[in-house]
Amino acid sequence: MKESTLTRVRCPKDDCAPATLSLDAWDTATLGTGEKDVVEGLVPCESCGTVYPVVAGVLILVDDLAPYLKDHLGVMLNLPEHRPTPDMERWLTARAPGTVDARHVHRSMKLEDRYVNAFLGAHYDRHAVDGDTDELVATLLAASAPRDLWATATTLFDRVRPASALDVGSSVGGLSALLSQRGCRTLGIDTSFLSVLAARRALLSAPSGLASYRAYSEGDLHDERPLMIGADPRHADFVVGSGLNRTTGGPSDLTCAVNLIDLVPDPARLLDMLTAQTSADGGHVLITSPYGWSGVAKERRLGGAADESSASALRRAAGERGLKVVWEDDRVPWLWRDYSRFWRLYFVDVVLFART
Ligand SMILES: C[S@@+](CC[C@H](N)C(=O)[O-])C[C@H]1O[C@@H](n2cnc3c(N)ncnc32)[C@H](O)[C@@H]1O
Ligand SMILES: [Zn+2]
Repeated sequence: MKESTLTRVRCPKDDCAPATLSLDAWDTATLGTGEKDVVEGLVPCESCGTVYPVVAGVLILVDDLAPYLKDHLGVMLNLPEHRPTPDMERWLTARAPGTVDARHVHRSMKLEDRYVNAFLGAHYDRHAVDGDTDELVATLLAASAPRDLWATATTLFDRVRPASALDVGSSVGGLSALLSQRGCRTLGIDTSFLSVLAARRALLSAPSGLASYRAYSEGDLHDERPLMIGADPRHADFVVGSGLNRTTGGPSDLTCAVNLIDLVPDPARLLDMLTAQTSADGGHVLITSPYGWSGVAKERRLGGAADESSASALRRAAGERGLKVVWEDDRVPWLWRDYSRFWRLYFVDVVLFART
């Protein structure tokens, strides 16, 4: 976490006011930009007493640390690089619930690592064609490039020209990279520790640079492919946090939830949180989704209770929160490689709202 990010984030507990966080830095480094980065340390909330750790440069700003550690402690303690110091390992272990099942750790770490690599390809190597790429996919990639999700986001960012943005569900940071290149002060937030670590490595070279990723062909077979990152590291940072909590103190000009709303257990609350963190003075909200809804209870899905289409339910729910549609296209292609025999082609609904 950049030291300056502390002034932007807030305690995610509903009852705490903004600006109650302080810093106990255990280890710091200087980024290539000259900014100070906290590599390891603690961020206590002076109001509720909750303490949020910084591990391998990643601030973990989740409202309930114990269940988070149940899933992620093994991932953190088994990092091939940037393992926490023994002091931090003791601090984290003391707060994790019971023993962590090693089989679960290895399975979840492997799955999350595969997921991170697929997203690194989707975000930074998005139109790449190699010897493993079927001609059919190569044709689709070339045909969709001018109007795909990335082209669409770029056009919208150039139209809105935000000075500050919150990228919720930022994954490995591709969208934040585009925003940072436009001089927009961007904070990416994601629940996945390895994704946030990869985003910080890719964009900020912190705690170390990420020069390549694994493009899988099948099973464990993969090519190591170079990562070409276009970003301005002065304008981006990433923390672990949830879109279902308020994580920023002041409003942003633009809040984004790109391909997230159909994954969270409470989509209505995500909409509330996005709206609350968007500037009331000309702010915009960008929501995109392929409406898969896997793992979301039917009655919680947008339109689920009334069997209404998700696209119209989103527009209605947003309207009820004072959000007005200013741009929309409900069939934007998004094509990416899971592995070379498995490509995903989504048609996502993309809506840009203005807060009124
Ligand atoms: C389908 S991916 C989309 C990533 C990226 N925005 C994109 O479009 O490529 C969804 C991301 O949201 C993250 N995520 C899931 N639940 C979340 C939550 N409650 N708050 C923030 N991020 C979340 C996942 O870890 C994952 O990185
Ligand atoms: Zn607090």
